[in-house]
Amino acid sequence: MSVYILGIESSCDDTSAAILKDNVILANVIANQDVHRQYGGVVPELASRAHQQNIIPVIESTLKKAEIEKKQIDAVAFTRGPGLLGSLLVGVSFAKSFALGLGIPIIEVDHLQAHILAHFIQEKENPQPVPEFPFLCLTVSGGHTQIVLVKDYFQMEILGRTIDDAAGEAFDKASKIMDLGYPGGPLIDQFAKEGNPEAFEFSKPNIPGLDYSFSGLKTSFLYFLRDRLKENPDFILENRNDLCASIQKTIVDVLMEKLQKASLQTGINRIAIAGGVSANSALHDAMREASQKLGWKIFIPRFVYSTDNAAMIAIAGYYKFLKKDFSDQTVTPYSRSRLL
Ligand code: KG4
Ligand code: ZN
Repeated sequence: MSVYILGIESSCDDTSAAILKDNVILANVIANQDVHRQYGGVVPELASRAHQQNIIPVIESTLKKAEIEKKQIDAVAFTRGPGLLGSLLVGVSFAKSFALGLGIPIIEVDHLQAHILAHFIQEKENPQPVPEFPFLCLTVSGGHTQIVLVKDYFQMEILGRTIDDAAGEAFDKASKIMDLGYPGGPLIDQFAKEGNPEAFEFSKPNIPGLDYSFSGLKTSFLYFLRDRLKENPDFILENRNDLCASIQKTIVDVLMEKLQKASLQTGINRIAIAGGVSANSALHDAMREASQKLGWKIFIPRFVYSTDNAAMIAIAGYYKFLKKDFSDQTVTPYSRSRLL
């Protein structure tokens, strides 16, 4: 018998719900919150309020799209953390009440594990190869940057992580410095397509092992621009595309260097990327190049499953459902990473 899982994601500024029939997606609805754009970043209190407004309409349109009725749902999976507490509380409370009303179990999901498990989501019309265990996953989002050794669906070990800013933050902050807008990653990616990645050189961090650091890069970018703007106030305007291409290349080079090191150290050549920054086109190119040069078997998530979405929460919920790994109604969200 098939299992229907409703997934709910509300950890940051996207309200999302999804329904899976086993591992196949039936519907994945995401309501973005435009309210944060004018502030150049996510305002936590506004995010909680927007989740509160969006959650019921998002659930309703998900059920409609999936063409199923509430009573067919077997369990509700929700993001327990990490994320913004006020935002998480909306999703967690909704999941509890919805499940209580239907008399079905709830399943807590870790947002970072879910980004990785997004690789196991199948689309009916477009089946995808899934990574075999063990594999390595570079999880790169607005809040996290990690190289994870994935031994099984829920057996994951962090081999390296950022000691300061996340890769997504590096994109967002570089964009803010250039006054391009928020979120910065997609904008930089877009402008970089018309730019020369070799135009400017920025110093790369020198961090031991498999860890990352991006705060120095941000500072050197800031000082570089401050000096150039003194000479030419239009420097950013005149060089926007080259600046975007160069900073993007630096970030991607840094990410790839440690990923290669991790592959060498573990002897694993099945390599996945996950999280919002895994939508980056230069990172895709670098992965494809590594696949050709180093013989990696690479796994790049489809765009909609790279950035925050509830389908990834539902797939993690599905694998927990198979193990009957349910949560009880006293569960509360966590803001900092517990499992990864
Ligand atoms: O995973 P995600 O949607 O949310 C978090 O869990 O943080 O990641 C959001 C991050 C933001 O920093 C955003 O700028 C970045 O992902 N991002 C990108 C791209 N699309 C989103 N960074 C680089 N290139 C992109 N195309
Ligand atoms: Zn995320």
